[in-house]
Amino acid sequence: MQDDWQNAGFGLYIHWPFCSAKCPYCDFNSYVADHIDEDRWVRAYIREIERIASQTSDRILKSVFFGGGTPSLMSENAVGAILEAVGKNWRFTNDIEITLEANPTSVEASRFEGYRAAGVNRVSLGIQALNDPDLKRLGRLHSVAEGLAALEIAKKTFERTSFDLIYSRQDQTLADWETELRVALDLAGDHLSMYQLTIEPNTAFGDRYKAGKLKGLPSEDAEADMYFRTQELCADRGLCSYEVSNFAQKGAESRHNLIYWRYGDYAGIGPGAHGRLTLGGHRFATETELSPMGWLTKVEKNGSGEVARSSLSKQEQGTEFLLMGLRLAEGVSLDRYSHLTGSAISPSVIENLSELGMVRLENGILQVSEKGRPLINAILRDLLADQ
Ligand SMILES: C[S@@+](CC[C@H](N)C(=O)[O-])C[C@H]1O[C@@H](n2cnc3c(N)ncnc32)[C@H](O)[C@@H]1O
Ligand code: SF4
Repeated sequence: MQDDWQNAGFGLYIHWPFCSAKCPYCDFNSYVADHIDEDRWVRAYIREIERIASQTSDRILKSVFFGGGTPSLMSENAVGAILEAVGKNWRFTNDIEITLEANPTSVEASRFEGYRAAGVNRVSLGIQALNDPDLKRLGRLHSVAEGLAALEIAKKTFERTSFDLIYSRQDQTLADWETELRVALDLAGDHLSMYQLTIEPNTAFGDRYKAGKLKGLPSEDAEADMYFRTQELCADRGLCSYEVSNFAQKGAESRHNLIYWRYGDYAGIGPGAHGRLTLGGHRFATETELSPMGWLTKVEKNGSGEVARSSLSKQEQGTEFLLMGLRLAEGVSLDRYSHLTGSAISPSVIENLSELGMVRLENGILQVSEKGRPLINAILRDLLADQ
């Protein structure tokens, strides 16, 4: 019998934890460092690749994702050495996706050619906003002109290019966002990620918000209007909202993210990287040391950066499966849910949610409707209430 993860495949996530500056909204595991001994870091990543590969060598890798932090601060040689080690340790699918998250400064764009030569075939650019005052407020180090120039270079260099925008920004109106979104859609290739600004605790924005000093954030109603307008304008251009914040033409979805959302297996290496691995019939959640120097020393001294590996119960797997899968427009298979958990979701709960227009059930596939999407957390609570 095939393991459940095979429904979605196997990927590798590599976390590079450094940035040139910390953006005030960001709660990712990222740090500004004076000096980085890159060779030492590359050796540690290769050691981690070898450790994980020794447990998963029979797998065929579908995707590699360099995320951060700012992986575009890595040199082309560092990315090349890591990908060489990846290639020595796993077989690849024919259409392997190798993505690198890049910040669009001119220095970073000058490395794109080298990343391409190293094997990267997809870039995700953090453009974030298309006006300079807002980029400044978001603490970004690039201008609109620099962002557009980097996008141009990326499109010429890589088979696939996507970019990220953040909306629901301070003092942004629906009309402002609509104008900006139309420009973004003119610039976009076949994939775009657009996130509503979230005020995270323990960030500079979070602290300012708590102190009542973060002014001009859109109301919940205005946020919802921007969200629905985004869905409409993207659909008009053939960019399907395949996940809550991700839009793509058919076939251009991020394969890496699909592994997560379809509840496949992925190894996570680098500081604070999470993984999900099915080994010997059990599914494990893995975690690595969060602090960059702590992780580096652990790998060097113990031959592993992992600090936790816990076996997931059937129920935990079922919950994660729904949590991930219901973000996708394609929805989840209820058979797969039952297979994972040994139980079924209450038909009456599904029926109630259906009557409210929040979900759709067709041929055993449960989908959250457009109307239900902004309420996805409440829907999940209902679905899992009696589990
Ligand atoms: C790992 S982060 C950043 C990658 C890269 N360092 C950059 O800044 O472009 C991935 C994306 O998450 C989004 N993001 C991060 N924090 C956010 C927040 N608080 N609210 C909304 N979007 C956020 C940004 O669009 C960002 O590009
Ligand atoms: S948004 Fe990107 S560049 Fe800014 S701190 Fe977070 S990871 Fe670094």
